[in-house]
Amino acid sequence: MDIQYKNPALSAEERTENLLAQMTLEEKIGQMTQVAFSTVPKDEAEMWAGTKFAGSFLHVLGDDARHLQDLAMQTRLQIPLIFGIDAIHGHGLHKGATIFPTQLAAACSFNADLVEQMGRATAKEVAADGLHWTFSPVLCNGRDLRWGRINETFGEDPYLIGVMASAIIRGYQGKSLKDDDTILACAKHYIAYGESVGGRDAYDTAISLRKVKETFLPPFAKAVEAGCATFMTGYLPVDGVPITASKVTVRGLLKDELGFNGFVVTDWNNVGNLCGMQQVARNIEEAATMAVAAGNDMMMTTNEFWAAAIACVQAGTIPISWIDDAVCRILYIKFSMGLFEKVLKKTIPDPSIFSCPEHLALNLKLARESVVLLENKGVLPLRKTTKLISVVGPNADDIFAQYGDWTYFTHPDPNFATEPAMPYKTMLTGIKELAEAHNVAVTHYQGCTVMDTVDLTNFPPFIQEVLATRSDYMTGDNDALIEEAVCGAADADIIVAVMGDCIFQNGEFKDRGNLDLPVVQQRLLEGLKATGKPLVVILVNGKPLTVPWIKENVDALLETFNSGMFGGQAAAEVLFGDVNPSGRLPISFAHHVGQLPVYYNQMPGWHGGKYMDLPLEPLYTFGYGLGYSLFFYGEPMLSHKTCTKEDTVTVSVDVTNTGKMDGFEVVQAYIRDDVASRVTPVLQFKGFQKVWIKAGETRKIDIALPVKEWTLVDEDLKYVVEPGLFKIFVGPDARMSSLQMTEVVCE
Ligand code: NOJ
Repeated sequence: MDIQYKNPALSAEERTENLLAQMTLEEKIGQMTQVAFSTVPKDEAEMWAGTKFAGSFLHVLGDDARHLQDLAMQTRLQIPLIFGIDAIHGHGLHKGATIFPTQLAAACSFNADLVEQMGRATAKEVAADGLHWTFSPVLCNGRDLRWGRINETFGEDPYLIGVMASAIIRGYQGKSLKDDDTILACAKHYIAYGESVGGRDAYDTAISLRKVKETFLPPFAKAVEAGCATFMTGYLPVDGVPITASKVTVRGLLKDELGFNGFVVTDWNNVGNLCGMQQVARNIEEAATMAVAAGNDMMMTTNEFWAAAIACVQAGTIPISWIDDAVCRILYIKFSMGLFEKVLKKTIPDPSIFSCPEHLALNLKLARESVVLLENKGVLPLRKTTKLISVVGPNADDIFAQYGDWTYFTHPDPNFATEPAMPYKTMLTGIKELAEAHNVAVTHYQGCTVMDTVDLTNFPPFIQEVLATRSDYMTGDNDALIEEAVCGAADADIIVAVMGDCIFQNGEFKDRGNLDLPVVQQRLLEGLKATGKPLVVILVNGKPLTVPWIKENVDALLETFNSGMFGGQAAAEVLFGDVNPSGRLPISFAHHVGQLPVYYNQMPGWHGGKYMDLPLEPLYTFGYGLGYSLFFYGEPMLSHKTCTKEDTVTVSVDVTNTGKMDGFEVVQAYIRDDVASRVTPVLQFKGFQKVWIKAGETRKIDIALPVKEWTLVDEDLKYVVEPGLFKIFVGPDARMSSLQMTEVVCE
């Protein structure tokens, strides 16, 4: 054996070449196989590590991971395994780790720096467990609010998703993949997953390749630019072709056109599903051939792939060059991250980093900047005269709802038997603690169940089992709960009602056809309103709900989505005016589910896209959010009257904080291609600055807009910037009425 590949002085390319040349077919296909530890008996897992040369395991922690790595290190070539985990908003599947706001909540901060730090902290906690790889971030555009996985997205807009994705990838991967505290990122789910028909998860996706390039590819292109080491192919078909079998999008767009040089892993059993669910292959051999041909390098949890691919190579249906390309990519990443020198990020797990003070402080900061104030009819911040607050509602004291999906406590099934790691602050505890400091009394009433009593068979079987054991989610005595809360809260100076959805309504298998508040929550709110007391609503939920009644009827509304450990403290600080809210919506809200889609960057249409029985505007639009200070925008100025495709045009605007509190403003820039060869969106978000402006202060804000990003996708599916007039808009959100316009001509 030639052990040059073990020499760290050689480059990753040289080492890969040397190792590949010595590998048997079984060893190569093994590298392309990823096994889910949770789905196989221990002896089978040992076989995969020890004698079938698996390249990777997912969802394995601690001693089990170390044991499997020991077995891999006893194989002939001693190629280390990489261990992957869904560390989606923090290393949440490990009890005790920091649970950050979800991607959707974090995107509300419009603070890429904090999102990068969240990635850094998560990487440190994952690496402290010895693991190497997170299946994050999600770069799907959240445009159909019915989709169950909206909570996992950075919202609806390709530009914002790209900015947040690049930030979190930088955070995960740090300065060098070789460092002890960096991990591989995985951009998923490639591509257009989330745009499925009717918002039904992993369903048909009726879009063209042009649409893919125009709307869904740009964030993934940013991930490639950010050096994201791995990509995951989604479950979905686009235009009839499962992405797992799509040469055009994986090998063509991603690898050839974008020049991605890491490796592609499939989603869960995608290869098996080519001949199972999707039925585009007759058997596993055909499925394996299609997946490798398309450019998937590692197959997640399709263990039959191993034997099938070996047989196909031997039969000549899979050329060995495809296999070599895939294995090279996997080995290249393994060498690049120094895996052969250090087979586990930490040989002995170091849980001292979990929820360390630095990570908790960051978590609170991010939660604070992620609270979005959507209404304020003069009741917030709370008056100094407030003596009694009544905190009401099913989500007031529910840490499971606040955490959202992908935590040890909530995924794959809610784990009610365990108490979340301390410290955490629900809305109730956050308010109580601050109220005590301000000498204000607090009463609390559950008020109602979070869901209406519905037919349990609406839920997948594993949820039915859990729900059957809990009365507080849907089967409680709502008449009694509502009466108790309404009578009790009538004495308060102000009522804070914490409403929303729960973990049974978000995630895979949990798409929704109805986004209204449940009838019981609505009844509770109407009862509370009838007390005549000021009514503040806090929403704790995985996605925008259709809440026009709330908009009309409450005195203030805070959207917090799934805000992690400290969401309750952050929201309380906003209520009491200790924090001037600065979150903005990364996603638009609809009046009614029938109004979907309501994303702001629609195409122009004859009737403006209006339904005769619904308003034209969304309930709340992308970019929107209030603070306790009003910001005045001066007239925007452009650095150029005319520009070329190589230029960067800077739009400058003076912004004055006319309020009494210092605070952040999120200054946003949009473009419109005025006349183009293709129909282009009415507005496209292209830049923003989140800036701290003191009370009374005016700051000149410059937003740089590289013209090369003003592309459309032409007839030949090429990205082009067409000459002509571009309108540039600046303002606090994406409503036309909020924006000021200037113009530049691109020559
Ligand atoms: C399926 C999900 O779609 C994906 O997001 C996740 O990373 C994998 N399972 C692994 O758990």
